Amino acid sequence: MEEFHKVRRLPPYVFEQVNRLKASARAAGADIIDLGMGNPDLPTPQSIVDKLCEVVQDPRTHRYSTSKGIPGLRKAQARYYERRFGVKLDPDAQVVATLGSKEGFANMAQAITAPGDVVLCPNPTYPIHAFGFIMSGGVIRSMTVEPDDSFFYSLERAVRHSIPKPLALILNYPSNPTAHVADPDFYKDVVAFARRHDIIILSDLAYAELYYCDTPPPSVLEVPGAIDVAVEFTSMSKTFSMPGWRMGFAVGNERLIAALSRVKSYLDYGAFTPIQVAATTALNGDGSEIEMVRDTYRRRRDVMVESFANAGWDVPAPQATMFAWAPVPERFREIGSLEFSKLLIEKADVAVAPGVGFGEYGDDYVRIALVENEHRIRQAARNIKRFLASKDESMQNVVQLNTRR
Ligand SMILES: Cc1ncc(COP(=O)(O)O)c(C=O)c1O
Repeated sequence: MEEFHKVRRLPPYVFEQVNRLKASARAAGADIIDLGMGNPDLPTPQSIVDKLCEVVQDPRTHRYSTSKGIPGLRKAQARYYERRFGVKLDPDAQVVATLGSKEGFANMAQAITAPGDVVLCPNPTYPIHAFGFIMSGGVIRSMTVEPDDSFFYSLERAVRHSIPKPLALILNYPSNPTAHVADPDFYKDVVAFARRHDIIILSDLAYAELYYCDTPPPSVLEVPGAIDVAVEFTSMSKTFSMPGWRMGFAVGNERLIAALSRVKSYLDYGAFTPIQVAATTALNGDGSEIEMVRDTYRRRRDVMVESFANAGWDVPAPQATMFAWAPVPERFREIGSLEFSKLLIEKADVAVAPGVGFGEYGDDYVRIALVENEHRIRQAARNIKRFLASKDESMQNVVQLNTRR
């Protein structure tokens, strides 16, 4: 049977191949150290869990909730933006709660895209950035990720050579998977460009609070006038270790927020009310929990960089996110990131995410997620050291090293 139109546009997840291999290695008794998926392993802070347990006792909270989020939650998000970024938002018109930021992003794409609309998307990037639009009938033009002159060069070219003119530009700083961080001047220039060319900016700020540099990552909405063209997505998943709770936000331009709210009002009734109340408590907290999460990832990052270097693999220290973007060691470059990731599972009991899963320009890298404890990260480094020290010939049994990509 022919695949359905939409399904044909969704290639099988590259990560699925690694996941299958991981599952069969585990079934055979291997202790796989899983640095693959960006799935936070830290528990949600107890105060947030307690709030959920308390509120769920009230049967009134068991009814349908509100699609755009309860007012207290939207107010808490507006207060967070004012506190953290100095950005004032109207909680009624400029804030909507989403079922995780992924859902919000995908439904924003659905709300604003007409068939054939061109969208400028970083490559490599978190897959929903491209596929949210592909599912909605849009066409993707790849952009460089580095927030420097090369970005503006590719932006100019994209506008000059795209027909029709691009509808939207996706930004994601701190970036998944590359951990690039943008500064306020970069945003200033991007906003000026977007206003000049009437292009929508969709900024994914999921890693707003996972940073290890002195200056916290800014919001694009800090730029005066950004609200005329931009919407920004944030997430409770990483900031508060709440990935399973599915709670995120879109904030910014009223027309775009109204479009997203309209689509959502047809699709969902909002998150379970106790989750929304607990999320409100989290956002209204004093930030100490965020500090602990940040410190944990920072320590893991330092352990990873040091122990992997000892193992013979130099991985640049990320300044933000919970990921390191690691160049595939020279010796394995030609087999590509997917085959290298498979080798790491089979020969070192370590799972990572192949860079090609984030786009074709990611194929010289793998992404290492800091989602195992320090002890396990050191163990991963020891396994990798043994693997890298092994002879090339033994690799031939697994994959032909002379296979070109
Ligand atoms: C850049 C980026 N955006 C969005 C998300 C999705 O977050 P959420 O759990 O809020 O849907 C992720 C999750 O890994 C991410 O890395």
